[in-house]
Amino acid sequence: MSSVPKLFEIGRKVDPIMIKYLVEGASEDFKPILLHQIEAGGKRIRPAIVLLSCEASGGNPEWAIWIAAALELIHNYTLLYDDIIDRGELRRGKKTTRAVYGDAMALLAGLHYREAINKLVNRSPASYKLHELVSQAIIELTEGERLDVLFEQTGRTERYITEKRITTPSWELYLNLVQKKTASLLVASARAGAIVADASQEIEESLSKYGLNLGIAFQVIDDYLDLFGKEEKFGKEIGKDIKEHKLSNALILLALEELEDIDKNKLLSILRKESSVDEISEGIELIKSTRARERAMNFAEERVKMAKTVINLLPNSSAKTLLCELADSVVKREV
Ligand code: IPE
Ligand code: IPE
Ligand code: MG
Ligand code: MG
Ligand code: MG
Repeated sequence: MSSVPKLFEIGRKVDPIMIKYLVEGASEDFKPILLHQIEAGGKRIRPAIVLLSCEASGGNPEWAIWIAAALELIHNYTLLYDDIIDRGELRRGKKTTRAVYGDAMALLAGLHYREAINKLVNRSPASYKLHELVSQAIIELTEGERLDVLFEQTGRTERYITEKRITTPSWELYLNLVQKKTASLLVASARAGAIVADASQEIEESLSKYGLNLGIAFQVIDDYLDLFGKEEKFGKEIGKDIKEHKLSNALILLALEELEDIDKNKLLSILRKESSVDEISEGIELIKSTRARERAMNFAEERVKMAKTVINLLPNSSAKTLLCELADSVVKREV
């Protein structure tokens, strides 16, 4: 437990660099908009993974600081857009950028973030390889967000969405979505550290698998907290996945597998309309009546165990131990 703040401190090392690259070239009036997202908080897990992966694969983490800052900016860039797409109002316990400044300014901030990311990659060692990695991760994230919208059961009228909507998802489809919308960036973070360290292909691959397993566990826990977390800690509105009509929440999917037809249809109908606060609570109660919470936790714990096992081949080091602690902290998190 005591090492969790320490882990957060590792990632925070990128804050001054992110700020420097974000404000460069921006007008005075745009700066508060650009900084709102990163000053609101955040756990800085992705840069911590970059710095630790670099060190654990024999590199000097000081050389990974720019790409670590870039990966945290990519995360924040996707959150800016995610909140526009999901019409999100609350993040990190604060109003979202779009809620404060509007969708137009949040979109422009996103564009500016993408350029700051480019500049950071240019500044980094192995920049050519890292540009490829970053592009690949952003392409996957975009596909993940596209799929996430298609998992919504109502709320959008565009023909493309209504025609392609996913109404009978499988666990496999869910995992494919999660791998893209969340794990892709943790994979890129772990790989980036290995690339800067000029590690062997074998080490880069095992760190990539660490990122994949951790990313899947991370999103399942995010889904858990979305329904069963405490808003003061989690910093996001509880039950928002139901409000946003998302069938792409692990716990909703697991509960639907277990519920009797009458309750299953009830939960689906709550997802398929503009539900009141009481109806959202009713949906959460239905999920609570199943083994979904326990099964989701077991699944996430299993993935965390796999993440720790795949990095076994790395030589022992304090950075490797911290990567394992970081993995453990994901299933214990309330934030
Ligand atoms: C939130 O990620 C979005 C998901 C991938 C679930 P984090 O929980 O890492 O967000 P911050 O940066 O700590 O706010
Ligand atoms: C998280 O998607 C992954 C992203 C690529 C942003 P969510 O829609 O679940 O994220 P939150 O719950 O709003 O943080
Ligand atoms: Mg969202
Ligand atoms: Mg989303
Ligand atoms: Mg979520």
